[in-house]
Amino acid sequence: MIVRHLLSATDLDRATVEGLLDAADQLKEGLFGRGVHKLPTLRGRTIVTLFYESSTRTRASFEIAGKWLSADVVNVSVPGSSVAKGESLRDTALALGAMGTDCLVVRHPASGAAQRVAHWLDEAQGFEEAQGLNETQRDTQTGGTRVVNAGDGTHEHPTQALLDAATLRDQLGSLDGKRISIVGDVLHSRVARSNVELLTTLGARVHLVAPPTLLPTGVRNWQVSVGHDLDVALPETDAVMMLRVQTERMRGGFFPSAREYAIMYGLSETRLALLPEHAVVLHPGPMLRGMEIASTVADSPRTMVNEQVRNGVHVRMAVLCHLLASEGEE
Ligand code: NCD
Repeated sequence: MIVRHLLSATDLDRATVEGLLDAADQLKEGLFGRGVHKLPTLRGRTIVTLFYESSTRTRASFEIAGKWLSADVVNVSVPGSSVAKGESLRDTALALGAMGTDCLVVRHPASGAAQRVAHWLDEAQGFEEAQGLNETQRDTQTGGTRVVNAGDGTHEHPTQALLDAATLRDQLGSLDGKRISIVGDVLHSRVARSNVELLTTLGARVHLVAPPTLLPTGVRNWQVSVGHDLDVALPETDAVMMLRVQTERMRGGFFPSAREYAIMYGLSETRLALLPEHAVVLHPGPMLRGMEIASTVADSPRTMVNEQVRNGVHVRMAVLCHLLASEGEE
């Protein structure tokens, strides 16, 4: 399938996810060991990153991915932009669209923001239902500004799930039937939501481990199993994904203290030893060492954080190619 915007992991069916991961693998192989990381695929295309929340990995990774594909990449920094003068998200997005931006990569603290931006741009640029097109017809229309969700509030972060899946595939092979435990602050985690969707699409069995206060109320409708005891979950796990405790999204007390959280849900060295020998550890970063993950575990060879970040560039290259490369170029 062809997607017009990448807003949610649910936008992607299994064949499309596998196609993107295969493309990322090919890009990784093709560029490996080459001094110059440059392909001409997106020459003449313009990518703008618009981040209303802090980021190190995601933003740099999109910029590098765009540059390695020869696109022109512009980073709009919200503190220095007209947003600081009170401009709305809609006006900002439409202004960037009107400049001929081919792809807008958006991070915003409000859940649903990227979806709204895509809607506003489609509407302004004539890609809406008003043009008499159904969704499939609209998706296959070329041109206009494509939107990638780089994290919207607690909702979704689809390219993070893709790079996590790429890393898991590298380590475990096919994810069919693999048991992946996602641990910690599921309630506030867009990474968890996108991973539940994407890993399930790839046939994995997802198990959530969290204190009851850090699970969303609707979790019983998700295609996952849920537990509260990390020591019970670890021996049954092929990969464990630790989540950052998102204090910036918390109002009120969700757990008694950082120390107690670390004791109950932190991945310590003793806990690492409970994992089967082949199992690996993932963390989207930034890590809070000593909180959800012990420093020695974070640095252990079983922890894939650097592999995740490396795969992130190739996965985002694959996504940008999918959205922007003309037929034949991909
Ligand atoms: C995540 C995010 O921003 O959602 N980070 C990332 O993109 N690598 C996770 C987090 O901030 O905890």
